[in-house]
Amino acid sequence: MLTKVIVIYESKYGNTKRVAETIIEGINEIERIEAVLKEPKHVESTELLDYDVILIGSPNHIGGPTRGIKKFIDKLGKIELEEKMGVVFDTYMGRDFNKAVRKMEKRINEKVPGLKLITSGLSIKVGGMKGPIVEGEFPKCKEFGNKIARQMKI
Ligand SMILES: Cc1cc2nc3c(=O)[nH]c(=O)nc-3n(C[C@H](O)[C@H](O)[C@H](O)COP(=O)(O)O)c2cc1C
Repeated sequence: MLTKVIVIYESKYGNTKRVAETIIEGINEIERIEAVLKEPKHVESTELLDYDVILIGSPNHIGGPTRGIKKFIDKLGKIELEEKMGVVFDTYMGRDFNKAVRKMEKRINEKVPGLKLITSGLSIKVGGMKGPIVEGEFPKCKEFGNKIARQMKI
């Protein structure tokens, strides 16, 4: 059976998008798992029912996820997601490691009971407002994708 993954992200300067793409590279190394990448504004609620796993990624904006990602999580809470698997990731600048990740996880746990978080989120450091992604962070993205995909095969 084919496992279907959708990766939903927002990215002002492209760094979170690169993280999303690199996670997908890691996912695609495992057979029979297919991943697609989309921004929330291009996602219809009903199409989400086709996926087994929903990944959500956001840059850290003022200590948390973007408004668009918060709205997207709230929208997920309004549809009947049954036993879907969820994973989150963020990009951050200074000392805000994991901050947006934790807020997304909390929001999902509170508002989207049908989305079960299968692993704790990934937080990737960028060098400044516009990036770039700090050296040594890229392998973590690919390994994360790989880990998620292997977890789904069990
Ligand atoms: C409006 C705004 C607020 C931000 N606030 C924070 C913050 O509170 N903490 C932090 O670590 N990074 C903050 N950043 C930096 C972002 O994390 C950084 O721009 C982002 O990771 C880059 O990802 P992107 O290229 O996908 O937009 C902020 C960026 C913007 C644009």
